[in-house]
Amino acid sequence: MYLHTISQTTERHPMKVTVIGAGNVGATVAECVARKDMAEEVVMVDIQEGLPQGKALDLAESAPVHLFDTTVSGANNYEDTAGSDICVITAGLPRKPGMSRDDLLAKNAGIVGSVTEQFVAHSPDAILIIVSNPLDVMTYVAYTTSSFPHHRVMGMAGVLDTARYRSFIAEELNVSVRDIQALLMGGHGDTMVPLPRYTTIGGIPLPQLMDADTIDAIVERTKGGGGEIVGLMGTSAWYAPGAAAAEMAEAIIKDSGRVLPCAAYVDGEYGLNDMFIGVPVRLGRNGVEEIIEVELNEEEQELMTTSAQHVRDNLETLERIQSEA
Ligand code: NAI
Ligand code: 2OP
Repeated sequence: MYLHTISQTTERHPMKVTVIGAGNVGATVAECVARKDMAEEVVMVDIQEGLPQGKALDLAESAPVHLFDTTVSGANNYEDTAGSDICVITAGLPRKPGMSRDDLLAKNAGIVGSVTEQFVAHSPDAILIIVSNPLDVMTYVAYTTSSFPHHRVMGMAGVLDTARYRSFIAEELNVSVRDIQALLMGGHGDTMVPLPRYTTIGGIPLPQLMDADTIDAIVERTKGGGGEIVGLMGTSAWYAPGAAAAEMAEAIIKDSGRVLPCAAYVDGEYGLNDMFIGVPVRLGRNGVEEIIEVELNEEEQELMTTSAQHVRDNLETLERIQSEA
């Protein structure tokens, strides 16, 4: 009897992905990365004993059904994360009803700083994708703590916020989400800047298919999209955030050159300096390979400046809290 080896087409790369925080978002990131079979290995880390191990085992046991070969493990230490190529940081407290993302500032800064320090000691060449809130400031904390070059540190928000925006547009126009391309910039908060002028449906500019009032309503719903879910569930979202962070990891792993809105370090782009804020970037194996500067009209630039001021205020608040501690 001859056994034929059928070479399967797999896009799995010899990459190791660590996900810190095995809670709602972290476990979803791990699941999305594993199910897409894009990496060789995923390690989940959490301070809660048994939680990352249990979720990893459960996820690994889904492999024969979902048909992926990525190995999944869980740990309460950082030795097991050694040699990671990508780290998604989701550790921290989520929003509860009545809380803004900014209310999480001091607590999550301590957590993100501590996990970053422990992780980078074992994976000095990794790329960091931060998810913990308040996003833009936590990304800055990971950047300063890691001392990594800024192209290897980024935050996930724009992919999620545009996904919400695109899903609302698709629902309103009764069209496929596949055909909606959109750009959204600024900080991950109520001051985020969706850009209808840079939104198309099958190549057709949004303002040609939707009246201004409906666009405004969708923009407002997008800005409050995170809060809408907190109001329904008592905690924040995880399916779309997890999928969004995994999409960024995939773009890096596959060196695909995807153009996605990410919180990236600005050094003069859009007139902004020394902060992480949502801008369109080209993602590749080196992380943020380029920040794309699109032309903004006066109103859009003003919204971007207001959003940047909010991020700056939060950075200064954190600095004050830390200097008083
Ligand atoms: P969760 O409470 O379900 O999970 C957080 C996990 O972090 C918990 O399992 C906890 O044990 C772990 N953790 C806490 N301190 C840790 C430490 N020092 N080391 C390792 N693990 C630690 O929360 P969820 O829903 O997963 O949210 C996580 C974070 O992501 C929150 O800050 C939330 O606001 C943020 N978020 C950000 C989004 C974005 O678009 N950037 C979207 C959704 C959530
Ligand atoms: C979200 O937008 C709370 O940042 C979180 O769902």
